[in-house]
Amino acid sequence: MKKIGVLTSGGDAPGMNAAVRAVVRKALYHGIEVAGIYHGYQGLIEGNIKDLNAGDVGDIIQRGGTILYSARCPEFKTEQGQKKAIEQLKKHGIEGLVVIGGDGSYRGALALTEKGFPCVGVPGTIDNDIPGTDYTIGFDTALNTVIESIDKIRDTATSHERTFIIEVMGRDAGDLALWAGLAGGAETIVIPEVPVDIDGLVKRLKQGHERGKKHSIIIVAEGVMSGGELAKMLKDRAEIETRVSVLGHIQRGGSPTARDRVFASRLGAKAVETLLENRGGVAIGIHNREVVDYELKETFNKEHKAELSMYTLSKELSI
Ligand code: F6P
Repeated sequence: MKKIGVLTSGGDAPGMNAAVRAVVRKALYHGIEVAGIYHGYQGLIEGNIKDLNAGDVGDIIQRGGTILYSARCPEFKTEQGQKKAIEQLKKHGIEGLVVIGGDGSYRGALALTEKGFPCVGVPGTIDNDIPGTDYTIGFDTALNTVIESIDKIRDTATSHERTFIIEVMGRDAGDLALWAGLAGGAETIVIPEVPVDIDGLVKRLKQGHERGKKHSIIIVAEGVMSGGELAKMLKDRAEIETRVSVLGHIQRGGSPTARDRVFASRLGAKAVETLLENRGGVAIGIHNREVVDYELKETFNKEHKAELSMYTLSKELSI
């Protein structure tokens, strides 16, 4: 392989830049050229492609977002879109592609591989929802952003003796809510992986209050319901007054943590090694501190599992 491409796709995640840097520098180290594909699969279809040198990825390891920009691209889901993409790749002399993104991006990578163009997936999403890897790039930074917010909300919750509901992202997965709830000392965590029990929640809030708790923090994952919906349920069911904070896209921004930069560097470099071995249709991940690679297909056959022992522990610790 003489030239590879790299793109970022789907929701951006802190650490994507560190991964792009690793891909570019690792390839150049091995004497391979690299093309940056801008605006994800949309840019690929449109030929928004530029060669990158070592300097182009300088001073980005600490930056959030993605210098390659990102997009969600419905056209790429079609045969026609995928054909156009392959034509562009060939036109630019690109022989393998590193796709940094979440599961939608992985579907695109698999589609191209099945059409004979080798792609490797690097997990980049704050949701931490890709099967086969313990962590995705961006999760740690987003988690720390949520924790910072919880700490701040706790100050005002204590001062006013209020119950707060904090809605966090995560799409259909509860990881962000679960980890944030445990690390932030929340009284209750509501995640998609555990059936919602409003009566149980009300009981816990009341018991806490009777024991002298002056304030409560409830973390709700967006995949279950919105913070507003939960607030209404508590009001209707038990006359419990709450305040709601929706953290929103603030969770996607910011300088990546050291952990995300390290993961991004290791995973990006491994993606290049995989392509140099002429292997496509592969996903890269971290498992038990080791960098691993496995079939992209597996990410669609397996289910991502949240660590439910953490849910139980959080309940035990927040009595
Ligand atoms: O997948 C990352 C993510 O931030 C999810 O947590 C969230 O549900 C979604 O993207 C939001 O997407 P958009 O930025 O397109 O509104």
